[in-house]
Amino acid sequence: AAVAGPKGLQFQPIAPVASTVDALTVPDGYSWKPLISWGDPVVPGAPVFDLDRQSPEAQEKQFGYNCDFLAILPLGRDKAVLVSNHEYTNENLMVPGFTTEDALTPEQLRTSIAAHGLSVVELQRGKDGFWQVKPSRLGRRITGLSTEFELRGPVAGNALVKTAKDPSGTKVIGTLNNCAGGITPWGTVLSGEENFDQYFKGDPAGDPRNQKTYSLVSSDGKPSQGRYWWKADDRFDTAKTPNEINRFGWIVELDPYDPTSTPVKHTALGRFKHEGANVYLSKKRQVVAYMGDDSRGQHLYKFVSRDSIGRDTTNRKALSRLLDAGDLYVAKFEADGDPANDRDGTGTWIPLTQGGKSAVPGMTHEEVLLFTRDAAAAVGATPMDRPEDVEPDPRTGYVYIACTNNSNRTTPEPANPRPANKDGHVIELRETGRDAASTTFEWSLLLVCGDPANPSTYFSGFPADKVSPISCPDNVAFDLLQPGLWISTDGAPSTLKLNDALHYVPLTGKERGRVSQFLAVPTGAETCGPWISAADGSVFVNVQHPGETDGALVDKPTSTFPYTDASKRTPRPSTVQVRRIRK
Ligand code: FEO
Ligand code: CA
Ligand code: CA
Ligand code: CA
Repeated sequence: AAVAGPKGLQFQPIAPVASTVDALTVPDGYSWKPLISWGDPVVPGAPVFDLDRQSPEAQEKQFGYNCDFLAILPLGRDKAVLVSNHEYTNENLMVPGFTTEDALTPEQLRTSIAAHGLSVVELQRGKDGFWQVKPSRLGRRITGLSTEFELRGPVAGNALVKTAKDPSGTKVIGTLNNCAGGITPWGTVLSGEENFDQYFKGDPAGDPRNQKTYSLVSSDGKPSQGRYWWKADDRFDTAKTPNEINRFGWIVELDPYDPTSTPVKHTALGRFKHEGANVYLSKKRQVVAYMGDDSRGQHLYKFVSRDSIGRDTTNRKALSRLLDAGDLYVAKFEADGDPANDRDGTGTWIPLTQGGKSAVPGMTHEEVLLFTRDAAAAVGATPMDRPEDVEPDPRTGYVYIACTNNSNRTTPEPANPRPANKDGHVIELRETGRDAASTTFEWSLLLVCGDPANPSTYFSGFPADKVSPISCPDNVAFDLLQPGLWISTDGAPSTLKLNDALHYVPLTGKERGRVSQFLAVPTGAETCGPWISAADGSVFVNVQHPGETDGALVDKPTSTFPYTDASKRTPRPSTVQVRRIRK
């Protein structure tokens, strides 16, 4: 195959890897090392990982489980700060002797809660160009268990977010299910609280705006058990603490440079299953955050700040306030009336809040922000095929939307053209006047994913016989210096019987749509992050849930990643650096 990749990261596309292979596969001329794994020390004084001696206290100082979003931020010459999300836990691969979730002890449940959240570690570049974790005062765990957050913006202090333990309605303990994310122009990290509902026990008599919208009660009236966390803490029982759930489902902001800072939950950006948030500046230099709600038939959103960012982009604490006030919009995609081509069209951003007020009849401002799914449905937003990561190209401002899949879709809708869409697609959205604050846009399908031999796939006109198979696009990323879109996948094992992958796709010229596979993660894993640094000749990925397979247990795993040693008892989700070693 011809060489792919931008300057500094050129590579020969790898052949797709069967879904049973327990190895990280990288291109010829590249090498990889794990940077940090579940259980490794993060906070000064943390114990070393010991599978048989886990505790909430140890886990609160160690790298959490199932690393997802990943950022590597500047700190000076040969120094950097790594921030990673920890989305969820796989107790069957964490707890020796695991039988069922129901049988976990409160202590084991608290260890799991502590394995959620984020990690911050300092990195030092080694002589061989690979980065290493360095003990540092910046080392910090943000957990589901004990980290205090400030709830900010229009919903802070509202009656619906007050609890007996927090009568102020402004102090939330913990963050949960942190999936994708982005960085702000002022150097902080935004992280999405995605499937927060799974931690809460349902209540058939509870508020339908949670119980029904988030399926906490099944159609036959049975309450969900919330992964049994209510056995460790009754804030996870919606019958006992009905408002606790309203304190989750937000975009959170973390300042990784200040280990004493209080992280923030930003209510102006709405509450739903937030995949993540990525920022671009409008012509007036307002902060525009693009966001997806990753469920079948849910929506695409953007937040436009009321105030603009000035010349000083360094005052992190003050600039964070830009996310406290602004307008929230939801996308309606429209066809352009050309029946011969359903691959492009126009669209409108419908306001949900405007000028500090609700724009949705029958809902208050606070209700729109708390029950944003209901507001979006009420104004006729387009139901999407699970919009995951949404990211603007830093060069053009064009926005790329990974719609991972929707096998339930029966009716095509604009920008979601394929019924039974098991492989997903990627949309390009171009704001009118190239202004991120615009209320109208044009869109095109960049990719309709799948096995290229499948005639329903589309690669922007690039010949299908010259691309890598791609399925279930999830995270998207740009290098800050080099052009092209990087796409990681979550679901290729079930659709293509291939290990999940990281791909590179040029966006312009005659190479537009040429999908080239850069790496494959081990069996059972999904590819997360990614963080791309062509200047460093490196690609960083979070290898999430290696060995996640039905029936897998500690001492009976299908993966021992990142080890090749079969005596290792269980896999460990890890951040990995893949580095070019041959020019
Ligand atoms: Fe956590 Fe939508 O992936
Ligand atoms: Ca994801
Ligand atoms: Ca991304
Ligand atoms: Ca996913």
